[in-house]
Amino acid sequence: MTQAHLERGGTVLATYRNALPESLSRLEDNYPKRLIPIRFDQQQTLTSDEIAQYVPGPLDVIVHNAGVYGPRNSSLEGLDYTGILNTFDTNTLGVLRVSEAFLPFMKDAANPKIAAISSLLGTPAKAGPNDMAYRLSKAALNMAMHVMAANVAPQKIATACLRPGHVRTDMGGPNGAISPDESASALLTVIDQMTFSAKPVFLDLTGEPLAW
Ligand SMILES: NC(=O)c1ccc[n+]([C@@H]2O[C@H](COP(=O)([O-])OP(=O)(O)OC[C@H]3O[C@@H](n4cnc5c(N)ncnc54)[C@H](OP(=O)(O)O)[C@@H]3O)[C@@H](O)[C@H]2O)c1
Repeated sequence: MTQAHLERGGTVLATYRNALPESLSRLEDNYPKRLIPIRFDQQQTLTSDEIAQYVPGPLDVIVHNAGVYGPRNSSLEGLDYTGILNTFDTNTLGVLRVSEAFLPFMKDAANPKIAAISSLLGTPAKAGPNDMAYRLSKAALNMAMHVMAANVAPQKIATACLRPGHVRTDMGGPNGAISPDESASALLTVIDQMTFSAKPVFLDLTGEPLAW
């Protein structure tokens, strides 16, 4: 998504949490000043003051993409409670931390938007016996986006949870249905088409609405 938005002339503040990934380093070389890397682990708190130096102007869109799958389980026996909390910390609280830090910079944006990459696995309709940590964290993320939407509605900020499809990433594995490029390009189109409503929408990567 970062690369696609840079290619069409946009500016991206891209976060990473360990060493600067080779992919971001390459983009920084190719798009100096328009790719702004920020080192940040979203399990930690970030203040607006800390990022002010990086933000070049009004922020149009926040995309919450970082996430972990957490411990996998196939029954209720031996649940890894620490692992579940850790997953919740990144996938749910991390989204709130990032939003809180970056929201002040959306003040002067023309069509501000917040999009969180969620999953059908966080919906009751798709509940199964496995993967408690991930399911809980994405269900809570969806609710967090509802609460956030109610808070930012006066600022006319559009909010959405998006399903990226089953993508061939580290998390999705090699048997995913689509490539990261295909998913990113489709998600960017969906984000472009987001318009303000008082409540968040839950959309497939085709732009079709999904049931919460
Ligand atoms: N792949 C799928 O099929 C699929 C399906 C539905 C939803 N999703 C969602 O799509 C999003 C992207 O997933 P992905 O498939 O690209 O997963 P991935 O390959 O595992 O990549 C996850 C990314 O999140 C970063 N991250 C994890 N914890 C972080 C933290 N505490 N602070 C900052 N960054 C952190 C990782 O950084 P490091 O490189 O430093 O580890 C990595 O860059 C996630 O929200 C995921 O839940 C994916």
